[in-house]
Amino acid sequence: MAKIVAGVATSHVPAIGAALDNGKAGEPYWQPVFKGYEESKRWIAEQKPDVVILVYNDHASAFSLEIIPTFAIGCADSFEPADEGWGPRPVPVVQGHPDLAWHIAQSAILDEFDMTIINQMPVDHGLTVPLSLMFGQPDAWPCKVIPLAVNVVQYPPPTGNRCFNLGRAIRKAVESFDQDLKVVIFGTGGMSHQLQGPRAGLINREFDTAFLDNLTKDPQALARMPHLEYLREAGSEGIEMVMWLVMRGALNEAVEEIHRFYHVPASNTAVGHIILENR
Ligand SMILES: [Fe+2]
Repeated sequence: MAKIVAGVATSHVPAIGAALDNGKAGEPYWQPVFKGYEESKRWIAEQKPDVVILVYNDHASAFSLEIIPTFAIGCADSFEPADEGWGPRPVPVVQGHPDLAWHIAQSAILDEFDMTIINQMPVDHGLTVPLSLMFGQPDAWPCKVIPLAVNVVQYPPPTGNRCFNLGRAIRKAVESFDQDLKVVIFGTGGMSHQLQGPRAGLINREFDTAFLDNLTKDPQALARMPHLEYLREAGSEGIEMVMWLVMRGALNEAVEEIHRFYHVPASNTAVGHIILENR
């Protein structure tokens, strides 16, 4: 039986990828950011997951305003890094797990989640930056990755509650997959940030800290939070944090916080990161 053993949440700031790719990780500005992931890299190297289910959003790389799937699951054999305007990131091609991905798609769709099935898709910084933060710069990613893209770019994104319940459906799907696989689920994006308008640069440490606390203690309270509260408190791009709730919904009710990191600034966002293990 396949099993989800832990969840990882992390920001997916594109500038972090650029800093790594351009050899700037040791510079004074970036050094504290990467330091916050050193323990995480050791942790995941010990965990050795077979598969990572990576919940992220596409930033107009694979999709555009022509097609806006609310939930899209990558069922392909592999996924190339997307060209986001500066050429594709020099990171390994992402190897998928089509059997498990199709199984999750089938299980979730029969559980009445209308997943879009994706058989070809470039993956952008939303997916590759979390892999870089957790696995560093290997020649090949050490595990299979199932991309799960959530629309948080064009209104209306799904509710936090819908995301939380999708996480539960994913857990049920994984646990009914007939292969021994160790799975870790990533929720990415956030934390508080706003990229445009009069409030550009908004950071709300108090909100972010409470969100991190409640991920462990009271995720149901987070699942009830309306979109307006994200926008008001965490800025327009803070809505990405609903994706963390997919991760949380896929874990046990009781989890243990293994590691937490919070740092401002990285580019114009608050970087947040947490690792939760199932109790
Ligand atoms: Fe993003």
